[in-house]
Amino acid sequence: MLNEGIGHSHAKAILMGEHSVVYGEPAIALPLKNIDMTVTITVRSDQQQLIHSKYYEGTLRDLAGSYEGIRQLIMRLLTQFNANDLGFDLRFASKIPQERGMGSSAATSIAIIRAFYQLFETKLDTKTLRHLANIEESITHGSPSGIDAATTSSSDPIFFIKNKELTPFKIDIPGYLVIADTGVMGQTGLAVSSVRRLFDEEPSSTRRLISNLGQAAIEAKQALQDGDVEQLGDLMNKAHGYLHALGVSHPHLETLVKTALKNGALGAKLTGSGIGGSIIALAKDLHDAKRIAKALIAAGAKEYWISPLSADSQAEATE
Ligand code: MEV
Repeated sequence: MLNEGIGHSHAKAILMGEHSVVYGEPAIALPLKNIDMTVTITVRSDQQQLIHSKYYEGTLRDLAGSYEGIRQLIMRLLTQFNANDLGFDLRFASKIPQERGMGSSAATSIAIIRAFYQLFETKLDTKTLRHLANIEESITHGSPSGIDAATTSSSDPIFFIKNKELTPFKIDIPGYLVIADTGVMGQTGLAVSSVRRLFDEEPSSTRRLISNLGQAAIEAKQALQDGDVEQLGDLMNKAHGYLHALGVSHPHLETLVKTALKNGALGAKLTGSGIGGSIIALAKDLHDAKRIAKALIAAGAKEYWISPLSADSQAEATE
């Protein structure tokens, strides 16, 4: 065992297919590598198990509420490595806002698991990494599709079908995503269960919305392959309409989506579970992206990020 283990991860944005992905429809998600997180575990000489983060400062034992999944994940890792009595300081350094549709809980798990495996000098394969992260995600969110753990541990965009397909691919087209935070907490568990309720109450119209979202994801994959950003923007607008009809939008999300479109976005939609959280808007170039971001802040967004669609221009947008 080393004295210190370090694990990294990053945020994600679902480009297409949130919610419908839970029902087996395809989805596309992008890693946001410049919005990252680092977890450092340092071994202590006593047996105290201490967590230090912006949101929580205290013992592992007292970590509760929405962190229950994280607590259970750490306990499981300690048991797995035969180290239940190990004293440690576990520190988070994160740029990912919590509960804003950007995969913060999955990214936290991914970074923790990587840090523990490094500490215990154990090789970690991707399948195990995602499996362990999804244990936390099930406790935190109910019945996750697995897309958050898959994207926050992937360095490429992914085409994803729950329990069936996880295909990383490259995007090689111009265009920038502006991600903007409403400042309103999205609640994944609540949003997923409200769609489930709608499904029970109105099965045929809900089924239609879900399959329309899946179809939009398939067409978006094609638009990405064809380099057709305008078509991608249209599909994002359609997807936002379907998500709104599923009841997972929020007045602040609506304001930001409309503001982005009014300021030249090719398309805009909520991203992640909704009912708060963030939007993504598609800009044709960096200049437009900056203008849209400024307008979003003026319309009440709390924070924004600009990320190129194509990973090759990653460095350009980092400001
Ligand atoms: C949350 O980032 C995405 C949802 O589709 C839930 C899931 O896929 O588990 C809303």
